[in-house]
Amino acid sequence: MSDAYLITGGMGCIGAWVISHLLQQGKRVINFDISEDRHRLDALMTADEQAKITFVKGDLTQTEQVKVAFVDNDISHVIHLAALQVPFCRANPVLGAQVNVTGTINIFEAAKAAAVHHVVYASSIAVYGSADEYPPGLLAHDAPKMPHTLYGAYKVCNEQTAQIYFDDDNITSTALRPYTVFGVGRDQGLTSEPTKAMVAAVKGEDYNITFGGEMQFHYASDVALQFIEAADNPLDGAYAFNMGTTPVSVQAVADIIMKHKPNVSITVEENILPFPQGFDSTELHSHFDTIYETPLEEAIVDTLARLEKA
Ligand SMILES: NC(=O)c1ccc[n+]([C@@H]2O[C@H](COP(=O)([O-])OP(=O)(O)OC[C@H]3O[C@@H](n4cnc5c(N)ncnc54)[C@H](O)[C@@H]3O)[C@@H](O)[C@H]2O)c1
Repeated sequence: MSDAYLITGGMGCIGAWVISHLLQQGKRVINFDISEDRHRLDALMTADEQAKITFVKGDLTQTEQVKVAFVDNDISHVIHLAALQVPFCRANPVLGAQVNVTGTINIFEAAKAAAVHHVVYASSIAVYGSADEYPPGLLAHDAPKMPHTLYGAYKVCNEQTAQIYFDDDNITSTALRPYTVFGVGRDQGLTSEPTKAMVAAVKGEDYNITFGGEMQFHYASDVALQFIEAADNPLDGAYAFNMGTTPVSVQAVADIIMKHKPNVSITVEENILPFPQGFDSTELHSHFDTIYETPLEEAIVDTLARLEKA
């Protein structure tokens, strides 16, 4: 049997990109998601391409459903992305913990039961505290974790959980911690506004981004490829990596959008999100041969073109 990649949350933004890239690489893909809404897949793949995906409608909080998905599909690789984002965890903390924390434990339990030895999963820079709690500059990989949201606390728990599964069961794992992901399909979550501004610009509409300051932007396509790279190259331990890219201002993103869509106005408010502006990714670079970092303007132009086509 060929390699089989289980993607949880494949109906989501990053998941849809992961699936799209895996299919282009000729890989077998199983998409485990509670949702049947294909709008992000439709934005990236034709119906013929999607016909190659095995869809498993399942709830990550249900241990048996996750285990069955592993066994029935002879899973060899796992990229675990399903989660509830910041606003949803705030609105419903119990469900947030069930999906984000118990769901991740279910993935490790299923991996253990199915003798899958490596788990790749999404963490977040939300594991860290706010900018004023750290020295200025790029935040060190091993800076203390001081989450200020339940979402961030759940991600810390997942990273600690992964360490215990390595210590107790020798299941290795790699987590990536993206900051602001943008691109086709990024239509929900705290930092989705830059992408929403691109969508508005393509429609010829003005848009106001409600936060400013500097941050790291990651093109969804690059993030997806980095997750695949992590799945294909297991490391011997329980690792969690910050992702790279040079911090840029939200205003700079707005300026690039307006440069290519001069008929619209993208405004940026001064309100600054409570995160450091950038996170050091030296560790990621030293552990992987290939790092995916499309230059910002090229990625924004690609996104505008894809949105135009859609
Ligand atoms: N987008 C970002 O900027 C960003 C930044 C940092 C970390 N992350 C992390 O990356 C991962 C993917 O993010 P995204 O932007 O693609 O998220 P998304 O919200 O677009 O997609 C999440 C997916 O999870 C699925 N899901 C939710 N509950 C489920 C359940 N009980 N069972 C099965 N599936 C369920 C949803 O249906 C959805 O398709 C998440 O873990 C997120 O926390 C994202």
